[in-house]
Amino acid sequence: MPDPSSHASPAVADDLFDKYALPKVALTVILAASLVGTWTTGRIAAQSPVVTLAKWAYLVALGVLAGGLVWKHLFVCPDDLASGAEEYCAAMYARFDRIAGGVVAVLALSGLVVLADYVSTIGVGPLVVGLGGLLAALLGVTGVAAIRSTPVDEQFRSPAGLFALGLAAAVVCATALAEVGLRGLGPLVAGVRMLHLLAFAGWIGGAVWNIFVAVPSGQSRPTVPVARAAGEQLERFRRVVRLIIPTLFLTGAYQAVDALGTDLGSYLGSLVGLAVVAKIGFVAVLIGIFLLCPMWRACSPIDGVCDLEELGGGERSTASAEGPSDG
Ligand code: HEM
Repeated sequence: MPDPSSHASPAVADDLFDKYALPKVALTVILAASLVGTWTTGRIAAQSPVVTLAKWAYLVALGVLAGGLVWKHLFVCPDDLASGAEEYCAAMYARFDRIAGGVVAVLALSGLVVLADYVSTIGVGPLVVGLGGLLAALLGVTGVAAIRSTPVDEQFRSPAGLFALGLAAAVVCATALAEVGLRGLGPLVAGVRMLHLLAFAGWIGGAVWNIFVAVPSGQSRPTVPVARAAGEQLERFRRVVRLIIPTLFLTGAYQAVDALGTDLGSYLGSLVGLAVVAKIGFVAVLIGIFLLCPMWRACSPIDGVCDLEELGGGERSTASAEGPSDG
């Protein structure tokens, strides 16, 4: 049981955990951008709307699993499990398992449609067989982990957990290869698509964890060690988002030029071109949210943004009351 004296005041708990309206807007924009992206790919490759919708569900489910596993094993750190935040981490893991159970079902169903489309277009080659095998393994490993309830320290960075994380990344890359293979494009385009999809997966999975796993688990445990662990995990996610934004933009721009060229007219004069323009707008909105979002500034160990000492503890805090935030 946490020491009652280590409880943050209700106001501070609200400051830490009730400011997630903007993250929800960000998640909606990421979903919209990915739907427009999948539609763009479907339109270029002349896929049916059913396949496009199934592929969007597949990519979102895959992203939620892959990005969630990144948070589970990389943004959670050993200190968090030995600093009074163990119960918080255990609650987060249990919550993620419940979400993962549903996500595995969506991934299995949408995966069947996506694989059937690949088979009908490029045949049963090594790529499709490999993707099918990796997907089946990912579904099995994450499905079993979601059902079994093992203590958090047995799950954290366990061989099975890291294997699942590697499998999720491999399925994202194999999907990118299959997508590019559908149109007979070269290895550079394949690498660019992998980066685009990996960045998307990391972002949507982290955003879902933040809103549906970290915030509700933290709201019911407003203690200083939890606030500190939550702030530090969020800051690790923020650092990765700083890489994800330019990666999505640059890889997206490469794919756009590859498909539509550099003539402004082909962007303003076609639906696919306008979809690309819309995606640039989505990224601009997301950058604005990233810079403004109070939750992402709240109690993260960024100079001048929040001093964890104010919460009555903070030997692990690196925050100070001076110096500007870098957003
Ligand atoms: C939040 C930002 C973004 C997200 C979440 C996102 C997500 C996606 C997704 C999920 C796909 C589908 C890939 C597939 O079906 O294999 C896609 C495709 C695409 N994206 Fe993005 N994207 C983003 C930003 C951008 C930006 C800024 C651009 C352009 C500057 C862009 C250009 C494209 C293009 C051209 C495609 C189609 C590629 C093709 O089929 O040849 N994306 N995106």
